Amino acid sequence: MSSLQGGANPGFARGRRLRSTPAMRRWTAQTRVSPADLVLPVFVKEGISAPQPISSMPGVVQHTRDSLRQAAHEAAEAGISGLMLFGIPAEKDAVGSQADAADGIVNVALQDLRADLGDELVLMADLCLCEYTDHGHCGVVTPAGVVDNDPTLDRYAAVAIAQAQAGAHVIAPSGMMDGQVAAIRAGLDSRAFTETPILAYAAKYASGFYGPFREAAEGAPQFGDRSTYQMDPPNTAEALREVRQDLAEGADAVMVKPAGPYLDIVAAVAGAVDVPVAAYQVSGEYAMVEAAAANGWIDRERAVLETLTAIRRAGAGSVLTYWAVEAARWLR
Ligand code: PBG
Repeated sequence: MSSLQGGANPGFARGRRLRSTPAMRRWTAQTRVSPADLVLPVFVKEGISAPQPISSMPGVVQHTRDSLRQAAHEAAEAGISGLMLFGIPAEKDAVGSQADAADGIVNVALQDLRADLGDELVLMADLCLCEYTDHGHCGVVTPAGVVDNDPTLDRYAAVAIAQAQAGAHVIAPSGMMDGQVAAIRAGLDSRAFTETPILAYAAKYASGFYGPFREAAEGAPQFGDRSTYQMDPPNTAEALREVRQDLAEGADAVMVKPAGPYLDIVAAVAGAVDVPVAAYQVSGEYAMVEAAAANGWIDRERAVLETLTAIRRAGAGSVLTYWAVEAARWLR
């Protein structure tokens, strides 16, 4: 039998034959990334008069209500599928009251965007309390400083209803409380939002890659960390269990987060479920490429597109990425 270098044998398929031109490579590509695969996370902050840059995420800002409207128009223009909204209130308190206040920043921003864009983009509302609580945890805490699961569920249900009322098309709980999907589903259904889907951040790891986001959303925990509710990085089986649990509770779609360092989890989840799977390319993944590119150590556009392709190749149907609009323009 001819060896692997045995180019003389005309019976062997040879890898290079199908890589010879850009057109040939385009024809044989097994994974494509298109604007519709992308969702842009956005931050809107109360009480600022101009967009505020986020130093650890060059190119990303905290928006004013108006600059967010502009950014949303550009996102629609670029052809991406949706936005994931995060609000940063002027006043924080122990229970995160501004998350479900009708005039809370995220809820007025949802109203703005729904009025401007109707159903043109899928408006997703991140549902968590960490941007709204003075202690920075994702739920309410006991006097001993422990995040209290069940009282937090009541808060989540109230926030989901407020976000749906404000015009969110999708509710996306990211707090990793047990039972959060069931509680939110029940809350939405009780107010006739039976048609509002839930995208569950089902497999969300306690990750060091969220660092820059905590500057962006001003939601760093003031004590302790999130390791008692977010997942432990070494674990795989737990991700599948969390996903199954969220689906059993009524999730319509699931998310894995972070994305790049967790491609094995993306692949395992995509292989295990028959609902849409999203992956969140988080702030630290963004910051790493931006920092390397700023130093001239990496080809920025090429690296960005490679990360997005890899996440799609692992099996994610959609990718939440801070590069969504820029990448969509490259991909058109
Ligand atoms: C809130 C939330 C976080 C992110 C999305 N939703 C931060 C966290 O859990 O600490 C991180 C997103 C990013 O890093 O880009 N629960």
